[in-house]
Amino acid sequence: MPNFSLPIWRLHARILETLTASSRLALVAATGSGKSTQVPQMILDAGLNSGKRIVVLQPRRVAARTVAARVAWERNVPLGAEVGYQVRFDDLLSSASRICFVTEGILLRWLQSDPHLSDVGAILFDEFHERNLLSDVALGLVRRLQENLRPDLKLVVMSATLDAEPVARFLDNAQILSSEGRTFPVSIRWAEYGDERPISEQAADSVERIIHSGDTGDILVFMPGMGEINATINALRSASLAERCAFIPLHGDLAPEDQDRAFQASPVRKIIVATNVAETSVTVDGVCHVVDSGLARIARYDADRGIQTLALEEISRASADQRSGRAGRTAPGTCWRLWTESGHLNRLPRNTPEIQRADLAEVVLLLHSLGIPRALDFEWLDAPDRPAVERAENLLRMLGAISAEGHLTGVGRQMLHLPMHPRYSRMLVEAARHRCVPAAALCAALTSGRDLLVRPGRDDVHLKDARELFEGSAVSDFHTLMRAHQFARNCNFDPGQCRRYGIRFETARQVEDTYRQIISVAERHGLISSGEQLSGDSDALPRSLLAGFPDQLAVRKDSGTLDCSIVGSRTGVLARESVVTAPLMVVASLREVDLRGNRSTLLTLATAVQRPWLAELFPQHISTAVEHVFDRTHKRVAAIRRTRFLGLLVGEEYEREIDPDASGAVLADAFARGWFELSKLDHDVKQFIARVNLVALALPQLDFPRMDGTALRLAMARAFKGLTLVKEAQAAELRPAFQRHLAPEQLGWLDELVPTSIAWSENRRVRLTYSEEISEEGEAPGGPEAQVKLNDCWHLTAHPRVGEGAIPVKLWLQLPDGKRLEATTDFLRWKVSDYPRHRSGLRAKYPGFVWP
Ligand code: CDP
Ligand code: MG
Repeated sequence: MPNFSLPIWRLHARILETLTASSRLALVAATGSGKSTQVPQMILDAGLNSGKRIVVLQPRRVAARTVAARVAWERNVPLGAEVGYQVRFDDLLSSASRICFVTEGILLRWLQSDPHLSDVGAILFDEFHERNLLSDVALGLVRRLQENLRPDLKLVVMSATLDAEPVARFLDNAQILSSEGRTFPVSIRWAEYGDERPISEQAADSVERIIHSGDTGDILVFMPGMGEINATINALRSASLAERCAFIPLHGDLAPEDQDRAFQASPVRKIIVATNVAETSVTVDGVCHVVDSGLARIARYDADRGIQTLALEEISRASADQRSGRAGRTAPGTCWRLWTESGHLNRLPRNTPEIQRADLAEVVLLLHSLGIPRALDFEWLDAPDRPAVERAENLLRMLGAISAEGHLTGVGRQMLHLPMHPRYSRMLVEAARHRCVPAAALCAALTSGRDLLVRPGRDDVHLKDARELFEGSAVSDFHTLMRAHQFARNCNFDPGQCRRYGIRFETARQVEDTYRQIISVAERHGLISSGEQLSGDSDALPRSLLAGFPDQLAVRKDSGTLDCSIVGSRTGVLARESVVTAPLMVVASLREVDLRGNRSTLLTLATAVQRPWLAELFPQHISTAVEHVFDRTHKRVAAIRRTRFLGLLVGEEYEREIDPDASGAVLADAFARGWFELSKLDHDVKQFIARVNLVALALPQLDFPRMDGTALRLAMARAFKGLTLVKEAQAAELRPAFQRHLAPEQLGWLDELVPTSIAWSENRRVRLTYSEEISEEGEAPGGPEAQVKLNDCWHLTAHPRVGEGAIPVKLWLQLPDGKRLEATTDFLRWKVSDYPRHRSGLRAKYPGFVWP
């Protein structure tokens, strides 16, 4: 029978009313009021699910399992019949199950196999205040489903703390119902100073003090993870407590029967040491005291390494309040916070939704698989940052999981089955092909945590020697780590032994856990064939690593240094302890470091790669082009076939055939840069250019094309067409190629329009010089210049002009001894207005000449 005494039953009638009249509801009630256990039963007993499944989404596996067990017990049915649960690796649902507690990942997989969710009548989002990435995504998807295909589907969002307004708004103003929780006062004890001891010892201290004070009641201790939980229990065991107690760990990695211990009655006082699963997800009755470490492991995206990590962080003030509230459910209680009151004010007021801090690649892949080709178009409760979504889509494209248009590819479909970051699922898909899944799984585990090996300092001879023991090949740094890990395994993760060899034993242990998890997923999906070993053929692992990190392919800039170019126009420095000597490699870790005072990117976990693999794995990322370049050493043009992978230059081959037009252009360009001289570019040619430009500017009606830099280069490229050597270019005739700049008839007019000389007297011509400076459009063009003796000018009746009379020649007037007197573009006017000033002086200085 349901537990009618729980506060949530006071809302019973209104819950049913709302869900009958509409199909959406937001329900807010304090932890312990009966949301998780009672509301599904209300819906089932009222028949609101139309005989279909009621799905209760749980962010935590422990909660799904224990709450399901509780509800089955209340209804007096075996677990797995009317009431069941399904979490990753554990399925206790049958066709008879009507109340199904499942984690979000399970629902998302159901959505893939049946987009209508036709056997589901109601979906309850429990613990929504946690704002998990997957619950946010699931809410968006279910809302969409309800709007498009399943208006009959009931949707309830339940939360202990949530400010329900935004969710209700997102659900088109769904009804909000809230229940006033009945709680007792909890007195808070703060740490008086910052304590440097391990958090486990501090917690054990507080527990001891509670017991010594004589207060009765169970104690709930919050720790960030399994390691700290075990350490706390060990510390408690060795403390001298005044009474017998039961020490009970509670976290997701325990076997089900061990998880249940927390909820069972005990003849002695219970001390439950839990992760934040006990914050709001599960309720342990009888708790009167809370000891809070103030820490939690929070999933975060590590942009440096491009992977998701679990970071140890301070919890928010809102989380701390939830935790202390666990002590005041049935009577006044106490909460011992292991941080100072002043430190409390520096904490974040509430947790940021995971969507704003997590890597989105896995979720975006999922959205693409559900036919949403652009994750930015998805209607999110809180949209993630655009760059984060774009980064995720880019990565998926590079991994080959989605096509350029955003459609899921065959590889992407295979990746979807593996619940892990797309880098690793891509790696495993490839590893399965080459039968090296165990090795790839170990590499995935090795990249996803802290570094396994301590980085030896430059002069740390001892650690360097130890490290050399693990170095077995120049192919991959992973081989070194794998051997080190094997060593740690063989000595059973013994801290002393590990430390001596520079191995972090806690990391080794975590790697082992992660490895086993990945292996069991792979086994479930039939990726491991029997008898598969850790080693495998020597190319298999490097190929799989390349599959997971194509965006981190790197090429050595030269063989003498550790400098590398990386995909994405990035550069970095290979770690000096890397065993890899090959020029082409894939690196699993890139991080920003300070190197000799400069920010630079350190490349670690490198693996040598062979060029043909690039095209085999990612043909879509390869581009080749023949590029013609000027070889300054040999003073010639070379044609090079350049191969690029995602833009990174990975190969060059000299071509025998040279494209005549391209080589001409390269020579012209090299000349323009001043890399060689051209004696054939002589005065005549330069004057030709000047004359053409003058006509183009001064007589626009004639449509002469200007010879500017570009035109000159084109003309020169024409002259050099088919040549490859500087020597040949220097011997080439330029004039014909330059003349082709003009139409034939224009060329014919040129001598008449802008002659190189003009007639002066019966048997004398005067040479004209045109300005070789290229004047700007709109600027008045300078006409040609000529040197003449002033004494030869007295016969002039008109000033000489070119360009159909439009352009006066600038005459430089010389004295009998060759000195220049003045210049004029209008001699007749000069003779009248300027000459008289000079006349008497000239007569005196140059007698015997005519000075009219
Ligand atoms: O979801 P909510 O926090 O609102 O409450 P609940 O999980 O439905 O729990 C309501 C009550 O059921 C708790 O206060 C416990 O007394 C009891 N319960 C239990 O005894 N054992 C469980 N495994 C789950 C709930
Ligand atoms: Mg609950």
